[in-house]
Amino acid sequence: MSVTIYVADARHIEYAGAICKLMYISAQERGTGIAERSLDYIAGKLAEGKAVIALNGERLAGFAYIETWSHDRFVANSGLIVAHEYREQGLARRIKKKIFELSRRLYPRSKIFSITTGLAVMKLNTQLGFKPVTFSELTDDPEFWRGCLGCRNYDVLVRNEHRMCLCTGLLYDPAAHHRPQQKLLTAGRTILRLPMKFKHK
Ligand SMILES: CC(C)(COP(=O)(O)OP(=O)(O)OC[C@H]1O[C@@H](n2cnc3c(N)ncnc32)[C@H](O)[C@@H]1OP(=O)(O)O)[C@@H](O)C(=O)NCCC(=O)NCCS
Repeated sequence: MSVTIYVADARHIEYAGAICKLMYISAQERGTGIAERSLDYIAGKLAEGKAVIALNGERLAGFAYIETWSHDRFVANSGLIVAHEYREQGLARRIKKKIFELSRRLYPRSKIFSITTGLAVMKLNTQLGFKPVTFSELTDDPEFWRGCLGCRNYDVLVRNEHRMCLCTGLLYDPAAHHRPQQKLLTAGRTILRLPMKFKHK
């Protein structure tokens, strides 16, 4: 397989139709969980560079996009899809890594999240440092949750007042991955922090 993953741009708009079709077919097959997006919406994500696209030559192999919520405090990595003939060869892992890196670059302070019922996405996000959380830790932007309208479990979400559903929430909080400074500057002097093993008990 010789698949290259690109940060999308206007040249990729021509793939919007094929992406929507693949999403529709996969949602039918799974019977749950992939938010329906219009052709214009996907074309917009491609043109804005808020998506990554995997191509084998000129053939679509996979896709994922970024959405922002709560005034950019949250970023959702959504719409991960791999064309059937490229599945189970590690392509979703590569796409996830690329969309994660793009999210971190565009929105370094934002919390990144996904909601999913899929084991593959749970595994991939966990490997990138995401932690499982309750929905209370995710965006409360009603527009995000409206994206669940097309899911067959939407009634479960409403019945639970948006506090829980069949999806698992996965969150990457950049603050939790911030490395503490190795040096402390005190009154103009640099105090080096010693690793624990050199400290006296
Ligand atoms: C889910 C999907 C993106 C996985 O793509 P993929 O390229 O086959 O995934 P990868 O080969 O990169 O596999 C990544 C990991 O997920 C696992 N995995 C892949 N498909 C899986 C499946 N259907 N069920 C359980 N685990 C799966 C792999 O074994 C691998 O695990 P590992 O880390 O233990 O090796 C693809 O099947 C797809 O497009 N499905 C339809 C759309 C969809 O469900 N999207 C997710 C919406 S939340």
